[in-house]
Amino acid sequence: MVMVQRMNHLTASEARQIADLHKRVIREGFLTHLGIPFLTQMYRAFAVDPGVCLIVAQHGDRIAGFTCTAIDLPQTYRRFMLKRGVAAAAAAARTLLKPASLRRVIETLRAARVGDNTKVAEAQDRQPVLMNLCVDPAEQRKGLGRMMMKETALWLAENAKEVLVAVTGESQRPAVEFYRHLGAIEQGTSNVHGDGRSHRFIIRVATLLDAQS
Ligand SMILES: CC(C)(COP(=O)(O)OP(=O)(O)OC[C@H]1O[C@@H](n2cnc3c(N)ncnc32)[C@H](O)[C@@H]1OP(=O)(O)O)[C@@H](O)C(=O)NCCC(=O)NCCS
Repeated sequence: MVMVQRMNHLTASEARQIADLHKRVIREGFLTHLGIPFLTQMYRAFAVDPGVCLIVAQHGDRIAGFTCTAIDLPQTYRRFMLKRGVAAAAAAARTLLKPASLRRVIETLRAARVGDNTKVAEAQDRQPVLMNLCVDPAEQRKGLGRMMMKETALWLAENAKEVLVAVTGESQRPAVEFYRHLGAIEQGTSNVHGDGRSHRFIIRVATLLDAQS
């Protein structure tokens, strides 16, 4: 049986599983290219951040999916840099010693810089942002994404937030369809992911809470 729950702390093994899942599912993402050790540090820090909601879907000890949402993304990154910046930079540096990884990170940053209209600053505005959402390919289309979004909505409601922003690349068709299924309102496109067009969605917390699980 699957269990969906909020995590306020991650063990090393849980953080590693989340990092692995992130890498397997979001293959071309910028953070993916910073490597598993970096992602592990990042998710451990996010779990204990009071401004972040980390939800996991678990089968026993195995993590089948997760969502990560920040109330104020710039502040979350600032806290992460202050608390774990040195360790995370060292973890990323090990990966970036590989020329292919370094090249991919530089290409992504360059593409994001020359991208059209909205760019990173607007996508990561002061509304709550869905930082990531991943379901193990073997577990997709079983409602785990929907269940985790409902749990995320409960946390947002507890924090008096009414909307959530989600940005996803054009190539992530399942995510685009998923957000539409949730009743998200599309608010245009940008090049925030640096790999082509990205869709920006606004999702109303009330809509998520009203949805059938
Ligand atoms: C997007 C994602 C999280 C959806 O998770 P999921 O657990 O499979 O989603 P659900 O089973 O809750 O699906 C809910 C509905 O969304 C829509 N949907 C989900 N995946 C879809 C797909 N591949 N194609 C078309 N519609 C899809 C359907 O309407 C679905 O309802 P249905 O199965 O009754 O038709 C998952 O596909 C994933 O991990 N994708 C890769 C990672 C990613 O792109 N994350 C977003 C990063 S910003």
